[in-house]
Amino acid sequence: MDVFVIKGSKPLRGKVRISGSKNAVLPIMAATLLTSDISEIDNVPNLRDVHTMTKLLTRLGASIDFSKNRLTIDTRRVRTFEAPYELVRTMRASVLVMGPLLARFRKARVSLPGGCAIGARPIDIHLKGFAALGADIKLDGGYVDIRGRHSPKRSVRLPFPSVGATENLMMYAAALPHKTVLRNAAREPEITDLANFLASAGASVRGAGSDTIEIVGSRKLKGSRHSVIPDRIEAGTFAVAAAMTLGDLALTHARADHLESVLDKLEEAGARVDRNADEIRVSANRRTRPITLTTMPYPGFPTDMQAQFMAMMAVGDGTGVITETVFENRFLHAAELTRMGADISLEGRVAVVKGVRRLKGAPVTASDLRASAALVLAGLVAEGKSEVRRVYHIDRGYESMEVKLRSVGADIIRKAE
Ligand code: UD1
Repeated sequence: MDVFVIKGSKPLRGKVRISGSKNAVLPIMAATLLTSDISEIDNVPNLRDVHTMTKLLTRLGASIDFSKNRLTIDTRRVRTFEAPYELVRTMRASVLVMGPLLARFRKARVSLPGGCAIGARPIDIHLKGFAALGADIKLDGGYVDIRGRHSPKRSVRLPFPSVGATENLMMYAAALPHKTVLRNAAREPEITDLANFLASAGASVRGAGSDTIEIVGSRKLKGSRHSVIPDRIEAGTFAVAAAMTLGDLALTHARADHLESVLDKLEEAGARVDRNADEIRVSANRRTRPITLTTMPYPGFPTDMQAQFMAMMAVGDGTGVITETVFENRFLHAAELTRMGADISLEGRVAVVKGVRRLKGAPVTASDLRASAALVLAGLVAEGKSEVRRVYHIDRGYESMEVKLRSVGADIIRKAE
């Protein structure tokens, strides 16, 4: 298992190229199962989660080539409708094959993902949505067995705008040859990217990005070409790195319009943010001011940026408050930050972060993807040496993070433990 060794205290300066979005490419990869054809996807980040989805699609019978950030996926020989436990358990987003497999085979057998570090994360909203569209669902030996039936019911209201459930239902609806309406749908930019992919494959999709999505599907979707949107969470993470280290970073190939709530909070905290067409520039010249933030579904403040902001507030000037409403148990990084000298108290879903002048380098252990990013950020400003263990969490969602950080002046290396 790899470890990052970081020596802190350097302001980061320069340009960072933002990669394609992890959370956009995973559903799009699953959506290729709706076709019996070849699809080409560009701007694909080279990440562990992308390799895991590649393994799963290959297991189902797809042939996949992944080189130079382009995926070519041939789904003509997909024959299997079972997503096995050993793959689903390593990545929760594997459940996104359920909608496409159900559409293709009228049945699917998908392992339940099980718990993960940031909460119970059930898939009940996905299953209720499929059931509302007429599917029969049975749970059997840790697996969901689902069968499609013709149903007059063509509209679903989600009890919560779950990102994954919205995507799963959109993909299923894209193969139903009539209009399906999803209400209280998630509005994340990744939903719009999936909608654009489905449209280029031949479905008619209206309203993605709003809370009501209307889809008129087709049984004859074709392979298509698509370029994935930039990763707003990677961009947000580097933006925080610029602010925390009192540096100045230009994030190229990034979209400010996908990051409004994050950039607004950075400005509130005193950073300077310039939003340009294809680039975001963030700089700071003093410790950040205290802020209050509450995570919410898009366009609210993203839960995937909460840990990084906690690291920033840990070295800010004054006391800030974070409320996490999207996931239970998503403060695992707080204890590790405390080991580096942060002053954080937790009360249920609320964290009170009292800024300290300096963190101290320490060995810390990453618990999940964004928590690990927060520990790296803390390491960048801590006095002395930090070691972040379980870097595989970072590799799930950040393409060459240490290489990008080094290119803008950070002292960070990867070593095998
Ligand atoms: C996606 C993102 C993840 C992000 C999250 C919220 C991907 C691959 N992952 O995850 O990075 O943190 O959105 O923005 O895109 N829930 C239920 N039942 C369900 C589904 C969800 O109770 O059937 C709960 C979850 O436990 C969680 C909340 O709803 O508390 C949000 O989950 P959801 O929006 O579905 O997130 P994911 O799609 O899993």
